[in-house]
Amino acid sequence: MKLLVTGAAGFIGSNFVLTMLESYPDTRIVTLDLLTYAGNLENLQDTGPYGDRHRFIRGDIADRDLVRSVVSEGFDAVVNFAAESHVDRSILDASAFVRTNVLGTQVLLDACREFGVGRFAQISTDEVYGSLGAVGAFTEDDPLAPNSPYSASKAAADMLVRSYHRTYGMDVVITRCSNNYGPYQFPEKLIPLMITNALSDKELPVYGDGMHVRDWIHVRDHCRAIDLIIGKGSAGEIYNIGANTELPNVRIVEHILARLNKPESLIRFVKDRPGHDRRYAMDSSKLNRELGWEPQVAFEQGLDETICWYIEHEQWWQRIKSGEYMNFYDTWYGDR
Ligand code: NAD
Ligand code: TYD
Repeated sequence: MKLLVTGAAGFIGSNFVLTMLESYPDTRIVTLDLLTYAGNLENLQDTGPYGDRHRFIRGDIADRDLVRSVVSEGFDAVVNFAAESHVDRSILDASAFVRTNVLGTQVLLDACREFGVGRFAQISTDEVYGSLGAVGAFTEDDPLAPNSPYSASKAAADMLVRSYHRTYGMDVVITRCSNNYGPYQFPEKLIPLMITNALSDKELPVYGDGMHVRDWIHVRDHCRAIDLIIGKGSAGEIYNIGANTELPNVRIVEHILARLNKPESLIRFVKDRPGHDRRYAMDSSKLNRELGWEPQVAFEQGLDETICWYIEHEQWWQRIKSGEYMNFYDTWYGDR
């Protein structure tokens, strides 16, 4: 199996590459990543022992010439993780989101079609479905109703992927996963932001009343599901991925503070995010029924492991939190 994995220097992509190298001694992986603010080659340092089974290329998925030259090597599958991924940044400026998430996906699809790639896997999100009321869970048949520029750009990409299947008969699969947590997550997202702020005795900014609900999954469980869907999923199908772990944001923040022995007075309720989805919950029964997938990591254990990982990798996140990221932090949180 020869894979092209885009966005592999980010959080989920790097975890996926390692999962695949560890699990399949015959798999070779080429990774393509622009190394934006969110991309970090340190996230791929554990691929070292796998030698030439992994090769990294720096580049933009929206650069047609580059993508054609990479894809022309020939691949059994292309797995597209590359994206601008942070809702808050998309509220400040949606341009990069449209360029990478929509145009970049189209450029990849065109190249995969031209060079006859076996399968195209689009890594999408539950956020394309919009927001839920107090009960129920998203199924694959629900209409798309994205509420942020980020989720709108991901929904647009999903539609393009679907259309390349219907129009050209391309073999595609789309995965839609709930909120991930685990090692190497950029500390702009809720869980790593709260852990690292608490470790630094900084305020923990919770949007609105803190009762927005997210459905959490450990990144390892997400990666196992993607592996299964690439290998055994049906062409043209969408698969929801979730681990049935719904929690209001403030409960997670309280849990992190308790584990770190820090006071709840660090919590600061701040002005809400505009367009903030109230609740997500994923129904992943199709994935369970058709491919036998089940999550394996219990939330409390996974969260505790993640807290330990951030304690042990302080240099990794301190470097990030002393660089460009702080400009965004000051702009976004400064007037909240
Ligand atoms: P991330 O922001 O940590 O990583 C994104 C990676 O894409 C970075 O390495 C970045 O350098 C790279 N990238 C950005 N623009 C690029 C471009 N134009 N060309 C090439 N590379 C580019 O994101 P993540 O959290 O790892 O998410 C990965 C994918 O999974 C995204 O598509 C996201 O929409 C999806 N997803 C994320 C979650 C989550 O909870 N984080 C949940 C469901 C789906
Ligand atoms: P986030 O990690 O940005 O993921 P998403 O918006 O894609 O779900 O946010 C998770 C939840 O945490 C979401 O309801 C927004 C909330 N949140 C805060 O309350 N404060 C913060 O500083 C951040 C980054 C998120």
